[in-house]
Amino acid sequence: MRTAASSARFARRTARLRASTIREMLKVTQQPDVISFGGGLPAPELFPTTEIAQATKRVMEEYGTAALQYSVTEGIPQMRAWVAHRLAPRFARLIPAEDVLIVNGSQQGLDLLGKIFIDPGDHVVLESPSYLGAIQAFDAYEARYLTVETDENGLIPESLERVLDRADPFPKFLYLVPNFQNPTGRTLVRDRREQVVRICERYDLPIIEDDPYCELRFEGEDLPPLSALETSGTIIYLGTGSKIVAPGMRVAWLVIPNADVREKIVLAKQGSDLHSGTITQYVFHEYVRSNAFEEHVHEIVATYRHRRDVMCEALSEHAPRSVSFNRPQGGMFLWVRAAGADTAELLKVSAQERVVFVPGESFYPARDVHDGMRLNFSNSPDERIRIGIERLCRAIEEA
Ligand SMILES: Cc1ncc(COP(=O)(O)O)c(C=O)c1O
Repeated sequence: MRTAASSARFARRTARLRASTIREMLKVTQQPDVISFGGGLPAPELFPTTEIAQATKRVMEEYGTAALQYSVTEGIPQMRAWVAHRLAPRFARLIPAEDVLIVNGSQQGLDLLGKIFIDPGDHVVLESPSYLGAIQAFDAYEARYLTVETDENGLIPESLERVLDRADPFPKFLYLVPNFQNPTGRTLVRDRREQVVRICERYDLPIIEDDPYCELRFEGEDLPPLSALETSGTIIYLGTGSKIVAPGMRVAWLVIPNADVREKIVLAKQGSDLHSGTITQYVFHEYVRSNAFEEHVHEIVATYRHRRDVMCEALSEHAPRSVSFNRPQGGMFLWVRAAGADTAELLKVSAQERVVFVPGESFYPARDVHDGMRLNFSNSPDERIRIGIERLCRAIEEA
């Protein structure tokens, strides 16, 4: 007799939907004595709960019925205008509010981009390593990956050129995270931004610029997003409220100057969820236009900078000689390499020591590089960072 499970005739693309190491691990970290450097979570104690409660009350009093009604797929006009206004200095130009689309987390933006660009077997160009959530989103559309080498200064333009020269079929787009990348915390340096834009222009390759961490800079000067550089090519920009307000609100945005791409995204989003939650957009907007929001961003940046320092100091003190790590200028992650180690195996030992992280192989589509680990520093207070790093270093020595 057929069981219910065996009678489900899943689409071929579901074969690519793998359980995420991160999600599996987050289950383990529910235990209070386990210190997690695994998730990409903001510090919950900094969430502006009171201000969001007040904003919600004001929204209900002022716009109650509109906030509870269906709304347009593109996003409520106030939110689109706010995003355009906030990004204008970074882009060093006026951004028409029509170029902005509000989405349900930038993760939905990645899914929609996969939906409109990727046919089964199409090539997509990624940094090596790259954001796991993007790989998952593109996997669902049966993408294949071409990977570009990176170093401490981000993606290496010569490697991108070599990849594009040889690519067959020619890829649909380049996806990259230019600031404080997930997983490595690295930032693409200024002259390389220019080079990447020129190369993509020459090859007529659209760029997807995913920039969730740009506001979390601890030191050094802001670099212009690729989207700020003059080009005849297509650049699609993703930003999010997840790291500067709260990920639970799922308010994020795309900036798409190309009207054809924008129209396809709107149609794809309509089929997916009609529109992002009206009430959350209203509440988000009500909060971010207040002074409290600006103070909040300063507070997050100061706290995460301090936590990065604590983690780097603890690593300097306890890490064995085989271990190297970077000191990102912003964001939420640092990248550790343990020469010769398989960090997926190391995770089993470190889980016994009650500390977890994300093994680097998850961020390589071919899962062929094993010595890296992503450590999150935003989500743990100082003392837990110190204890966690001591435990991790003990696990590395044991392993
Ligand atoms: C590079 C990158 N893109 C997208 C996302 C997803 O963000 P959102 O919460 O807006 O869906 C994350 C979250 O960690 C990320 O690191």
